[in-house]
Amino acid sequence: MAKTQVDLFGKEDVESLHTLNKAKKPFNAKEIETIKTKTGFSLLRNVQFIYELALAKRELLSFGLDFHVANDFRVFDVPFSKNTELLKKRLAYFESINGTITDYYYIIKYNQTTSVNQYLTHWIYPYKGKFHPQMIRALLNIMQIKEGETVLDPFVGSGTAALECQLLGINFMGIDISPLCYLLSRVKTESIEVGDEIEKVKKDIISDPKRIEKIKNDKVKNFFTIAQMVAHSDSARRGRNYDFSFRSNTEKMLQSIRDYVEVIKKLGLTLGKTNIINGDIRELNLKPESVDGIITSPPYSIALNYVANDSHSLQALGYDLKKISDDFVGVRGVGLNKFKLYDEDMEIAYKQMYTVLKPEKYCAVVIGNVTFQGEEIDTTQIATDACVKIGFKLVSKMEKIIFGLYNVMQKEYILIFKK
Ligand SMILES: C[S@@+](CC[C@H](N)C(=O)[O-])C[C@H]1O[C@@H](n2cnc3c(N)ncnc32)[C@H](O)[C@@H]1O
Repeated sequence: MAKTQVDLFGKEDVESLHTLNKAKKPFNAKEIETIKTKTGFSLLRNVQFIYELALAKRELLSFGLDFHVANDFRVFDVPFSKNTELLKKRLAYFESINGTITDYYYIIKYNQTTSVNQYLTHWIYPYKGKFHPQMIRALLNIMQIKEGETVLDPFVGSGTAALECQLLGINFMGIDISPLCYLLSRVKTESIEVGDEIEKVKKDIISDPKRIEKIKNDKVKNFFTIAQMVAHSDSARRGRNYDFSFRSNTEKMLQSIRDYVEVIKKLGLTLGKTNIINGDIRELNLKPESVDGIITSPPYSIALNYVANDSHSLQALGYDLKKISDDFVGVRGVGLNKFKLYDEDMEIAYKQMYTVLKPEKYCAVVIGNVTFQGEEIDTTQIATDACVKIGFKLVSKMEKIIFGLYNVMQKEYILIFKK
């Protein structure tokens, strides 16, 4: 079988794992002074692709701003910017607004890794096919999701959308069939509630990990369980010593929790509520017209076997891989029948998404095509057709590159539908 684009996922996640920046100070005085002198809306320095610029522009449009691009495309002049406080709080692709640092730029400085996308708890576990969190924040703006509203991700994976919603005070419901994803998404968003308890038992757990089983508080227990899963992944994929990895990842995860707590205090954030469910999107009974937006990325057809990919962790959690495979979209079945099952399963999933969304609201689907036996299968068009057939209106299709392994560029799409 020809290589699928899935080979391109996740390099930076894997590469970014091993530098603990304990002593890193978020901002130095010199940088703050420099930013203060800036006028206009300055793009973040990591913005480099056309789709990012397009999202940045759409963010501004969604707040009703007039602008023009100035100064080598790095600065937007916005003659009348009302509501600066809200813009400072929400914008994803901007570093500063007329000399004021945005919350996002502040937040991304709290990063225990070398990858700009893996700030706060985002880095935890090298899950393949993670969203770029910055893109999620921008989509939340573009879809005009307000604080206190609710967003659904029915394929929540490693919990990227969960954390971004939480940071913006948006309530969030996440669903994933994978028990690993369920734990991971919970740990990324819930561990901040139990930082002190984790700190208290850390030494005992590190000296005898079997004690994890006896921990009563499930949030504390989940934290250490995921630290074990990161160590399993480290030793299976990178040949690292398991005990060393468990110790170092526990420390690093705890530091990310402390970072998150500090960010909440410094920026005065009111967090959104999160509800993570371990279940099959095809089977759940969700309340009709109960969410204000959907942002999701389903499996890209049969491109990545999510069970095989995390087999070491799923087995360590005690799951029978063969049994659970039957419920994973894109993994079910054998041979060509897999494609047929995928299409059927996704049709049910899209119907669920349509039902649960409130009228006039938006649903963003990030999806890419796959190559099978040398031929490209237009999963994106299949998804679009399925959604339109149900009643969704396609309002935007944006091409986005996947920049990763081997420096090969492949693309995926951000589809935005309206109910
Ligand atoms: C592309 S990944 C999502 C990645 C996610 N956007 C992130 O940032 O980590 C697709 C997810 O769909 C999940 N999935 C597969 N079949 C499912 C089903 N029947 N119900 C719910 N989730 C499912 C997989 O476990 C996988 O985590």
